[in-house]
Parts: sequence; C-alpha cells; structure tokens
Amino acid sequence: MNTQIDSTIIDRKHGSNVLPETEINKATETIKPSKGSFSRRSFLGKSLAAGAVTMGAGLLANTLLAKEGNEKEKGHLKKGDAAILRFLAAAEIIEADLWQQYNELGGIQDSEVPGGTGNPAYTAAVEVLDSDMAQYIHDNTDDEISHFTFLNAYLASKGGEPVDLDQFRTLPSSQATGAQNIGRLTNLMQLTVDTSFWTRYRSDSLNPDFGDTLPQAIPTLAVGEHTAIPRTDADTTDPNFLQAIANTAGFHFAFIEQGGTSLYPSLAQRVTQDEALRILLSIGPTETMHFQTWQDKAGNAPPLTAVDPVTGVSVTFPDLNADGEILQTNLIMPEPTIFLNRTFPIVSIIRPTETDGAAMAALNALTADGLFIGQPPEFFALLTQLAQAADHARHGGRGR
Ligand SMILES: [Fe+2]
Ligand SMILES: [Fe+2]
Repeated sequence: MNTQIDSTIIDRKHGSNVLPETEINKATETIKPSKGSFSRRSFLGKSLAAGAVTMGAGLLANTLLAKEGNEKEKGHLKKGDAAILRFLAAAEIIEADLWQQYNELGGIQDSEVPGGTGNPAYTAAVEVLDSDMAQYIHDNTDDEISHFTFLNAYLASKGGEPVDLDQFRTLPSSQATGAQNIGRLTNLMQLTVDTSFWTRYRSDSLNPDFGDTLPQAIPTLAVGEHTAIPRTDADTTDPNFLQAIANTAGFHFAFIEQGGTSLYPSLAQRVTQDEALRILLSIGPTETMHFQTWQDKAGNAPPLTAVDPVTGVSVTFPDLNADGEILQTNLIMPEPTIFLNRTFPIVSIIRPTETDGAAMAALNALTADGLFIGQPPEFFALLTQLAQAADHARHGGRGR
C-alpha cells in the first residue's frame, strides 16, 4: 500500500481539521464586543438622518471605521505574516519527509505514522542510544506532519496559499528492508552534519549571533558525506558500520530540531498579527522539546570509528566525556551565554535568534546538511523564493 504523505492525506486532514470559513467568521464575530451594541452603520445612519454630523461625531466615526478595518484584517493574513507562515510550512513539509524516512526504518509504523515496515537491525542499533528511540522517532514524525498540516490549513482558512512540494518528491528511497520505495523530498544518505550545536549550548562565552563559530562535537561528521539510514541491507551486515549509521542519525535528529528551535523565535520577532504570533510561539517550543530529547540521546552514541564500505569515507565518534565541559554529555541544560550585548550578564537562552535573514539562514543550513542533494534548480528556486519572502516581512508595516 502506498501511504506516502501526499496531497491526498493533506486534503483529508484539511477536511477534518479546518473549520469552513463561515464558521471561522462566526466564531470571530462572537468575540467582537462592540458589534451589536454600537455598530458603525447604526451610528452613521442616525447621524445622516439628523443631518448634523458634528466634528466630534466625525472623529468618532473615523475611529469606528478604523476599528472595523482592524477587525476585518483579523480575517485575512497580512502579506508578511503569510510569507512567514508559508516558509514555515515548507520547512515543516521538509522535516516531515525526513522524519518519515527515519520512522519507516527505525520508528513505530502505525495508523498515526503509516508507511514502511521497520528495519530490525537498524532499529536495534538506534536503540543503543535509548531503548525508547522508536517511540521518540514516531512521535517526532507525527509532530512534524501535524505542524505542516496545521500551517497549511491555517493559511487556507485565511485565504492564503498553502505550500505544496509534492512535485519534488523524486529523490530515491533507501532500498533496505523496511523502507517504502517512493519518491522523497530529502536525502538522508549523503549528509554532512554540523554538530556545532553541541558546543554552542555548552559555551558560556560564545553565541553565533555575535559572529562566533563554535567547534564541532563530531568533526568527521561535519565533513564528507555520511548516510544516516541503511541504503541497502548490505549496510546492516557490519555491526560497527551499522552503529556508525545509527550514531549519525542520533546527531542528525538533534541537528534538525535545534534548527527549528532557533527558527521559530527568530521569525516570531517579525510577525505582526496576534494569532500568527501565537502559532509561532506555540509550535516553536515543541521543536525545542524535540531537540532537548535528541541531544540527550546523542550523548549515548558509543565511541567508534568506521569506514563506509561504499564510499570509503571515515567517521569517528569520540568519547565526548574525555575533553572537558564543552563536550560533556550530561550538560544538556543550556549554559548561560552572552546575549544582545556583552555588557549584560550571561543568560540561558535559545541561540541564535537573530531575525534578519533567519529564513535564508535556515534554508542554507538544510542545504549544507546535504538533505537536498539530487533536487533540481527549480526546487532551490522555490525554496529561496519562500525564504526571501519570509525575510522580507518586517515588523510594524515595513517591507509589506
Ligand atoms: Fe516542526
Ligand atoms: Fe522539528
């Protein structure tokens, strides 16, 4: 059965999750306190009939007109907010695609997250990091599907254009036991994983928002191309290499989710409407919950060195507890660090959260990760367009 996450599923979810526009309008109207008691129409009607619109009444009418205008805007997304939500929807579709691949091989396949049949050898290697990994992979996947489905449904409910990347689901699947053989948006078999998030959250004096570059936790994972899933069943025959694949996945899980952890607060600074802000502030911290879990589990990756039998690329997972606090595995609570200005006391924060260019920075990070190797120029053009539109959105009316 082909259970690919495609537009059919999205549409079905739209049908069950989204209120028809008339219902939304009805719901909105019930929270407009001034509507029934003192409407603009009744006020103007009486004034015109009396033929004596005083200056005071004129000002009042203008105020009421402006108020009604503001209320009408609640039913429609402002351009900048729509652009931010659209970029986030695209990012969530991408996240869902990669998590779906992990779930097919190493998670739990059920009606919530269908597709795939599981790869027992890979699942066991991933579970070396924690016995609950299959559940966590399933739940992270479920969350990402819900993120893009909600964002697209919300966009549609406000007359905005949902994001659809289905035409780019063309990259090959793993041929290993457990994976569906369907077109993918993302490539998990040629990853270059930036593991500087590890030291970034353990440093008390550096912050990328100040231009600082932090050292890699797993330097060999940050160069060359590494697979995070078995490409074929041959990849599961050498236990040492299979564990290297599982370790790679463990750090990749954290890399992806720390990206979301920064992206949402970075973009929230430029959202203008209360409800759109509420969406970003409500989804964003779930990415942080994912990241916190994953960085704890990545710390359990057993130290090893392995050479990819297909590509000849070597990877070494060192003992992270051998080199002091900047790598220590149980330091998973964010270390206070510099924020806004070095003259302030250090503070425990999400980092980075610079808003200028945040969407393009996220797209560049995903591209550098190797996730899109094999995608055509049209894919990058569309994603760049979505990111630039989001970055063009400015708080307070600028850039709209
Ligand atoms: Fe997400
Ligand atoms: Fe995520």
